[in-house]
Amino acid sequence: MVAVLELIDNLAGQYGRDRSSLLPILQGVVKQENYLSEYAMIEIARALNLPAAEVYGTATFYSFLEYKKMGKYLIRICKTITCSMKGKNQVLMAIEDMLKIKVGETTPDGMFSLLQTNCLGFCHMAPAMLINFDVYTDLTPEKVREILSGYLNKKGGADDTRI
Ligand code: FES
Repeated sequence: MVAVLELIDNLAGQYGRDRSSLLPILQGVVKQENYLSEYAMIEIARALNLPAAEVYGTATFYSFLEYKKMGKYLIRICKTITCSMKGKNQVLMAIEDMLKIKVGETTPDGMFSLLQTNCLGFCHMAPAMLINFDVYTDLTPEKVREILSGYLNKKGGADDTRI
């Protein structure tokens, strides 16, 4: 809890302590914590002197501001038309098969969460996905297995919060 408080204070110091700082502070907390806890939203509201409902409303409006606890590695696979036409379903099945989770679930060890998202802006290299903030394109089932193997091999590493 102290770490989140310190993080919010640092972000407010960086971006300011008013309404215009809300979005960058929310993004900063998600980048560090992987999601916005209720506690974090209340403390952000306190730091910016905003109603908690406004912070909650903003956080739940944007799809990249997760407000449920996610795995350390959050996989977002594009579900929009171009990726779908270029083999997204086969890639998704390979991910589900390898991690033994379905869309919306997190692995029991808390390492991976799987979500679908709308267009990531990489239609010319479809299908595409994000793992945290890293982009992967031109995916095939074989390529995605190789990518995930890399993450699985990093499991337990000391400094692997971002790849
Ligand atoms: Fe998937 Fe645009 S449709 S990246």
